[in-house]
Amino acid sequence: MHFAAYLSLLPLLGTAVSAWDAPSYSGYRLVWADTFAGPSGQLPNENNWNILDGNLGVNNELQTYRRSARNVQTSGGNTLQVVPWKDGSSWTSGRVESKYTFTPQPGRRTMAEAQIRFGGNDIGTKQGIWPAFWLLGDSIRSGTPWPACGELDILETVNGQLTGYGTIHCGVYPGGVCNEPTGRGGTVSIPNQDWQRWRIVWDRTTGDWRSETITWFMNDSQFHQVRGDQINDQTVWTSLTAKPLFFILNVAVGGNWPGYPNDRTLGGYGAMMEVGYVAQYSS
Ligand SMILES: *[C@@H]1O[C@H](CO)[C@@H](O)[C@H](O)[C@H]1NC(C)=O
Repeated sequence: MHFAAYLSLLPLLGTAVSAWDAPSYSGYRLVWADTFAGPSGQLPNENNWNILDGNLGVNNELQTYRRSARNVQTSGGNTLQVVPWKDGSSWTSGRVESKYTFTPQPGRRTMAEAQIRFGGNDIGTKQGIWPAFWLLGDSIRSGTPWPACGELDILETVNGQLTGYGTIHCGVYPGGVCNEPTGRGGTVSIPNQDWQRWRIVWDRTTGDWRSETITWFMNDSQFHQVRGDQINDQTVWTSLTAKPLFFILNVAVGGNWPGYPNDRTLGGYGAMMEVGYVAQYSS
């Protein structure tokens, strides 16, 4: 009897774990994913990720990124935790960039998705905290300047606000067709700090770059779209849709956009970004 009861629990446990697997989507095949398996307190798989160590000196941000499991760790529950910490008067945090790159293919739809939640600290203690799931054009790794390399922000939030931002940056700085430094973005209201699926879809099935689209979704609700003819510059559009891209997961602290932490701002797990999986699909 006990034995039978034990066996009957196994499928339930299996279901709970597979919630963090990249889901199947009809009409798509899964091309690449990291589901962040492993015991708690380990760095993520460094065959998949470059773990930054140092201060990038961008956007007047405060944090120093550390290649430390204190700042980027597998949770032991098939998730990645990116954790900012206030260490004395300075901040450390985590940033990982995929070694994997992909290029959305002509004639196909390509999806990039992650399941993300935010640490449970009260929103009033998150001034200056800036989590992000985004993509950069791989050409930046061989000297192409930003934003000509192309940047697609699938999800950013600032200051704990329950507003998700999806944005492209492209072309020249300042100004240009992406209106830098603002970029071209859309927003969505986030129901709570808990798990949501954040996705962009490139649709290159139309056979004409002007009618190709990039579309942003929270779970399955669309909240932003750009079309080739809105950008109206084939070279720039190509930097966002037809060149190799890599994933970035990070939590920045302070900087031009969010402003700086205040006396109430807390670091630690309650301020983290937690990621269930990152996946790329193709039709
Ligand atoms: C979004 O999807 C996740 C599962 O991937 C689910 O846990 C969550 O409740 C959904 N959010 C809403 C607002 O329905």
